[in-house]
Amino acid sequence: MAPLPICYLNGKQLPVEQARISPFDRGFLYSDGVYEVMPVYGGRPFRFEAHRERLTRSLNEISMRDPHTPQEWHGILGGLIAANGGGDQYIYWQVTRGAENGRNHAPLPDIPRTVFAFCALLPVTPPSVLESGASCVTANDTRWARCDIKSVSLLANVLLRQLSAEVNAAETILLRDGDMMEASSSAVHVIIDGEIRTPPRSQKILPGTTRGVMEEMATRAGIPFRSTRVSEAELRGAAEVWISSATREVQPVTTIDGRPVGTGKPGPLWRRVYDAFQRYKSELAGTPW
Ligand code: PDD
Repeated sequence: MAPLPICYLNGKQLPVEQARISPFDRGFLYSDGVYEVMPVYGGRPFRFEAHRERLTRSLNEISMRDPHTPQEWHGILGGLIAANGGGDQYIYWQVTRGAENGRNHAPLPDIPRTVFAFCALLPVTPPSVLESGASCVTANDTRWARCDIKSVSLLANVLLRQLSAEVNAAETILLRDGDMMEASSSAVHVIIDGEIRTPPRSQKILPGTTRGVMEEMATRAGIPFRSTRVSEAELRGAAEVWISSATREVQPVTTIDGRPVGTGKPGPLWRRVYDAFQRYKSELAGTPW
């Protein structure tokens, strides 16, 4: 999705085509940085605090202090959304360890960080996905051992996502040691015995923000939600499978590796959680964030 016209770089808003960073930026040379992706509905950031907290946590996990206070982030992101006309967008924001004059595996302390943010239109879930569901494939999880950090080092995720793109599928669901983890850029949830099950927080998966929303929507809809190990066999035998992320909300998966999930149609529990999510978004419209 093409970016909206104005981006933010190191303290300034500017047209995207004028944004420049050094080729010595550690983000470019080492993928030494972290990022966030947050949806914006009607000009209002959704779950700002959850995203801001996860960014600070990702930074701390790679031995960096967050260069901005929550109030500063509020101003930077709110200003950028307004500069791009509000409405439904998503905002991507990234912090790298900064640019050095050369290349050092051990970074110089306290070089100025590179802070970059841009907006893009929020993808709308295609009606075909709401009516018929999405297709996924599976693959062995070839990522590193700290998938809880939202790192810009996404090469394994990119290669894994390519496997589904090649067969026109929406996502690649990742399996590790016989268990389902998540997908290349979304969380995965299964419905078994009438309850939503999702893998527990660990260093092997990203702590998804949409997962927290789903847990709340499940409570509203009266559906049990359990954080527990999900085996590959449980994934393949589940009545329903869903993927969730900041840019997808919650989408039904109706085929995995070419075989139908449950009845092969979006399931009734997905519909209840999806509807609760849409109502929740309209309740938040125009409220402070
Ligand atoms: N990705 N797991 C992975 C590996 C992800 O990349 C994402 C999100 C999620 C879901 O997290 P959240 O609900 O907070 O979006 C889980 C974003 C959208 C991205 O990289 O573009």
